[in-house]
Formats: sequence, C-alpha cells, structure tokens
Amino acid sequence: MLGEYRISGRRASEIAASVERGVGSGDLAPGHALPPMRELASLLGVNPNTVAAAYRTLRERGVIETAGRRGSRVRSSPASTARGSLRIEAPPGVRDLGEGNPDPALLPDLDEALAAAARSYARQPGMYGDAPVLPGLAAFARAAMDADGVPAGPLAVASGSLDAIERVLSAHLKPGDAVAVEDPGWGGLLDLVPALGLRAVPVALDEEGPLPGQVERVLRAGARALVVTDRAQNPTGAAVSGRRAAELRTVLAEHPDVLLIEDDHGHAIVDLPLHPLAGVTERWALVRSVAKAYGPDLRLAVLTGDALTVDRVTGRQRLGPGWVSTLLQRTVVHLWTSGAVDAAVIARSYGERRQALIDALDARGVPAYGRSGMNVWVPVSDETGTVARLLHSGWAVAPGARFRMDSPQGVRLTVSPLTATDIAPLADAVAAAVGPVRPVSYG
Ligand SMILES: Cc1ncc(COP(=O)(O)O)c(C=O)c1O
Repeated sequence: MLGEYRISGRRASEIAASVERGVGSGDLAPGHALPPMRELASLLGVNPNTVAAAYRTLRERGVIETAGRRGSRVRSSPASTARGSLRIEAPPGVRDLGEGNPDPALLPDLDEALAAAARSYARQPGMYGDAPVLPGLAAFARAAMDADGVPAGPLAVASGSLDAIERVLSAHLKPGDAVAVEDPGWGGLLDLVPALGLRAVPVALDEEGPLPGQVERVLRAGARALVVTDRAQNPTGAAVSGRRAAELRTVLAEHPDVLLIEDDHGHAIVDLPLHPLAGVTERWALVRSVAKAYGPDLRLAVLTGDALTVDRVTGRQRLGPGWVSTLLQRTVVHLWTSGAVDAAVIARSYGERRQALIDALDARGVPAYGRSGMNVWVPVSDETGTVARLLHSGWAVAPGARFRMDSPQGVRLTVSPLTATDIAPLADAVAAAVGPVRPVSYG
C-alpha cells in the first residue's frame, strides 16, 4: 500500500526521482510495495516501458528491490539509509563493542609526528603545483608493498580507503555496472556501491577469503569489478590465504577486463602475510589505510595500481580536493619512518583478545569467527533479538544488517575495548542471548 504518497512524473527520470523523494521523506517506508508497472503507467498516462525504465534505475541505485511476481518494494535498507545508521547507541553503563574502532591504547602518540610535520612544513611549505604525493611517502609505501609482493605501480594518496575505492570505481565503471562485493562485508562499501549508481553483487566467503566458485559465477554473469579485503575482513576477520589467492588468481585470469580492487585493511595490524591477487587483470588497485594502526582521524590511505587507473584517480582528484594535505602526509611519513607502531605487538594484542573470546564461546557451544583484525563474528538465527538481549545484559554489539546482503544473520563484536576479565561474562551473555539455535557458518 502506498498510503497518501502520489508518485508523479512523465519521464523515467522524473518518476524515479519522485519515488526516491518519497523514500527519502519516509512517505514510502522500507518494505512498501510499489504499484505494478502497468497500473502506474496508466495512472500517469505514460508508456509501461517508461515506468519499467524508472524502476530499473531505482533498482540499480539500490532504492527498490524486485522479487519476481511479488513485484517491486522499497528496500528494507535503501541506499539513502546508510548502514552505519543501524548502530546501537550504548546507554550509560553499557559496554560498547559495536563501533569497530581500534583500541586507543594501541594508537601512537601524535605529538612528535605533528611537530616534525610542522618543522618540515616551515622549511618547505606545500603549494599549488607541487607533486600530489610526497616523494618520501611514496618511497616508503612502495617499499613496503614491494616487500609484500604487490606488483609495481605508481602511487596515489586518498582521504581513507573508502575515498580511494570510490575514486577507483569511478575511474572505470558507469551507472548500472555490477560490482562483486564480499557478503557479509564492510557496510561502508555496501552503501557506497549503490550510492554511485552501481549494482552490488554479493559473493560469500569463508575464513580464507571469497569463495572462488562464487567469484567465477558473478564474473561470468558480467560483474565489471571485484572488491576483496585481503586481511582483517570486516566483519568476519577473514584473511586471504596463499591457497585461496592462487585459486582466485586462476579465476581472475579468465576475466582480464575485470577491475580488481584489494583493500588491505589488515595492513600493520595483523601478523598474517599478504597474498595479493593483483597482476592477473589489466586494471587493478590495492589500497592501504592508516586508520586502524595509526588512528581513524588521520584520514589517509595510499593506493597503487596499474598506470591508467592511478593516473585517472590522480587526474580526477586534482579537480576536487587537489591532493591530501602534505601536513598529513608529513605526519604519516614520520610515524612510519620512526616505527611508531609495531604491527607484531598490535596483532598479538587483538589476536589474544579475539582468540580468548572465540575459545570462551566455543566452550559454551557458540561457533564464532575472527582469523585476523579486531572483530569477532557470531552467526545467529535472530540478530535483532540477540542485539536486544545483549543490550539488556550490558553489551552493545553491531547487528549483522550493517554488513549483510544475502548472507545469514550474525552479530559483530569488536574486541578493542575488552580486557581479560571481560571475556567470561561476555561469553556467558552472548551464549544466553543467541539462544539454543546456533548456525555454524556465515557462508
Ligand atoms: C574493510 C575496511 N577497509 C578499510 C577501512 C578503513 O576505512 P577508511 O580508511 O575509509 O577509514 C575500514 C574501516 O572500517 C574497513 O572496515
């Protein structure tokens, strides 16, 4: 039922805009059925093909979904509703494991790095016309990538991973193109894809990364790009193994036109080696953010890729922000070159907390996952109920809806705020909250 909201317009773009306005204002609520195409066409006095085109646009923009004979409905989480808004506000007294933030105690002190950046800036201020990437930053980032087996390529700097991924997608894809994404996967990316007018196509994964059979299926079906998280996958903690990387490279080799984007989210916070996929497709990019090891507020990510991709990214960036401030770049160079963080120490700290929680849950008969990074993913059969019951017992966790497309339900627990004494009471609360029906996988 549409209630009072009247869809208007004569052209497909006007009809689509009218529906989107209704969704944005809340008049067309999530789950609401849109009128059948013929009915709306006769109401508006337009050709049914015009309405079909409008619905297609809305589907591609992630505003509505179509379920065969049951017709089209407003998506339960339309692209205009960011998944991030599905967060649980932790009331006073409730421990917040829902935000996915790093442990502040593991982040480096910025005093010295900021002072060093200011001193360097005083000697040579950043000006229009300067190179967009500081040579010192490029050299250090590239050397680290060389050591990890990332194919050679020029370097660009963006304002975080999502900014980098958006720029790479926009460099090659056009509205309506399909992008294969991990499911469950990072909510920011799952929101970004439809926001760019692209279609997200889900690919299931296990602890070793995306399932090759599924990747093959979606690439054969025409997906133009694939985004893979190499390490510390959000929310499951998966990390691409050497064996899985070889399998995925074999699949990708059959699709050399596909744009491959790797998000090495675990860089500097994990102790597992990188097994890059890059090099088998013509167009590729690998992104590394400093957010998790050095602090989310630094807003800086480096990316490398094939020459055309990086050139397009840099060229388009020039017409917007221009470059990422060299004050920030100088700060990051100082943090890197002074060894301000020790990846092994960070990996051990998160690893001990993840493993303690997974073991404690296992002892209570609750399967949970977290091979790398700062999150533990618990498959559940009723995520809304689980989140509510955990909140009642003093723990705020992230509902799986923030990360899921078609994959089974789950909740994400970030271990950053946990100490050893928290593990047993938290595991007790989770075991009680998930109830007796316990799914065993997330694929
Ligand atoms: C999978 C993944 N990659 C990268 C990032 C870092 O993103 P950004 O650099 O945009 O802060 C996050 C943050 O949550 C993430 O979940």
